[in-house]
Amino acid sequence: MDLNFTGKCALVAGGSTGIGLATAEILLREGCQRVVIASRSAAKLEAAAATLQAATGRTPETLACDATRPEQVAALMAHLGGGPLHVLVSAFGGSFRSGFEALEDAQWLANYELNVLGTVRVLRAALPLLRQAETGRVVLLGATSARQPSEHQIVSNTHKAALLALTKTLSNELAPGTTVNCVCPGRVLTPLAESRMRQRAMEAGVSLEAIIAETAATIPLGRLGTAAETANMVAFLASDAASYVTGQSILVDGGLGRAV
Ligand SMILES: NC(=O)c1ccc[n+]([C@@H]2O[C@H](COP(=O)([O-])OP(=O)(O)OC[C@H]3O[C@@H](n4cnc5c(N)ncnc54)[C@H](OP(=O)(O)O)[C@@H]3O)[C@@H](O)[C@H]2O)c1
Repeated sequence: MDLNFTGKCALVAGGSTGIGLATAEILLREGCQRVVIASRSAAKLEAAAATLQAATGRTPETLACDATRPEQVAALMAHLGGGPLHVLVSAFGGSFRSGFEALEDAQWLANYELNVLGTVRVLRAALPLLRQAETGRVVLLGATSARQPSEHQIVSNTHKAALLALTKTLSNELAPGTTVNCVCPGRVLTPLAESRMRQRAMEAGVSLEAIIAETAATIPLGRLGTAAETANMVAFLASDAASYVTGQSILVDGGLGRAV
């Protein structure tokens, strides 16, 4: 299968760790001419660039950008020049455990600002550059919990579901030039998931390994996923090979989501 990234320009927002970093690695390896990774922390970006250089022999461009800050998103697009931008991957996001009644408006708003509005902002700012590509590709990161809500994750369950609606709606609005799809991970061992499980381990007074084993037992394939396994789907949807796929939200979760 020819992913055909040669000569293309890709932006991975949230590309310094986890699934975003694994996606940047595939894009570099598959010959994408220009890969820009962005996230808030310059230190994480520097470490990511070194990791990618060691893994692929190529160095991505890096730019510190907080997706919740409109002026930083504008600076990120300015860094890309006039386009064209062929691939946009929005790989940042987050969640926290809480029961419904304990939540204040501020916590809802902060998570909305990151998961939903941050994604909207990056996408809207990138649109003029994506439109210059003959075939633009947008890939968002949702979650299995958008389809099958996770316990104690009511905020991200709600906001990730919004991303599925955004994906479907935008895929119609941006057709036929740009495809929009969403990859929904289940339980992937990334820094984000590890910090969540560490918190659960502390609360339960057990080891991180015990929480990982307990989580793995809920997944039909019997283990957590890797960032690379999720990134494979992201890269496919970002490629020419996925030319007839748009508006889809695809679970990459080892069978965690049980619905038909
Ligand atoms: N891992 C899982 O099990 C899992 C499950 C379901 C869904 N997901 C979703 O998959 C996506 C990737 O998750 P991951 O596990 O790879 O997470 P991760 O390892 O924590 O990586 C998140 C990336 O986003 C960046 N980031 C965070 N906040 C940002 C902001 N405000 N602006 C710009 N960049 C920001 C982080 O770098 P900085 O800290 O430098 O900003 C990092 O590069 C997320 O949308 C997550 O919700 C993951």
